[in-house]
Amino acid sequence: MKGTFITFEGCEGVGKTTQVEMLKRYLSERGRDFLFLREPGGNAVSEKIRELILTKENGEMCGRCEALLYSAARAQLIETVIRPALDAGRLVICDRFADSTYAYQGVARGLGADYVAKLNALACGDVVPDLTVFLDMAPSEAFARKGGADSSDRLESAGAQFHERVYEGYLQAADKWPERIRKVDARRSPQEVFASVLRAIAEAGISL
Ligand code: TMP
Repeated sequence: MKGTFITFEGCEGVGKTTQVEMLKRYLSERGRDFLFLREPGGNAVSEKIRELILTKENGEMCGRCEALLYSAARAQLIETVIRPALDAGRLVICDRFADSTYAYQGVARGLGADYVAKLNALACGDVVPDLTVFLDMAPSEAFARKGGADSSDRLESAGAQFHERVYEGYLQAADKWPERIRKVDARRSPQEVFASVLRAIAEAGISL
């Protein structure tokens, strides 16, 4: 795979969408070719799986089912979109990827790191991000900034303790894979955070 793969991770409401949008604008203004994706989604099959996972109608969904569905959506996205783009030498940016499964299902839902590691290996194979930008902000601060959680989203409305565990999961992942995951302090202004995002990308040896 000749291309470059960058993923963004973080708890809800930390400004991930804003940072991703700033990066997209930055790249577009420079005429840089890139492919932007979000997880779960990015193709017809995975968008359908996204609906299935996130609708509040499926409140009884167990953790394993949830983890397997996220992984199924990811496998489809990799096979049909990410791997071909990386093989063609493109820059691929993804809003969430396998570290979300580690933090949300592995740690917060309690399936365990080993379970999720196996699942991620099955779904992703050798597709591992060159860089993961972790927007580091505790959920308590993030929800305070955002003015509360989105009650229409099954995962977002899962409760403060759940999101604290997600955050704990991300911190564990960042400790486990320090060479790949860069923590960026997300508590500052969007411009300051974006400057750190660009620095993290440059420090990872990726030229934009
Ligand atoms: P979003 O709000 O960033 O679009 O993400 C959708 C939700 O799905 C969010 O609550 C995080 C959650 N999620 C997981 O629990 N596991 C995963 O593997 C992924 C990709 C997302």
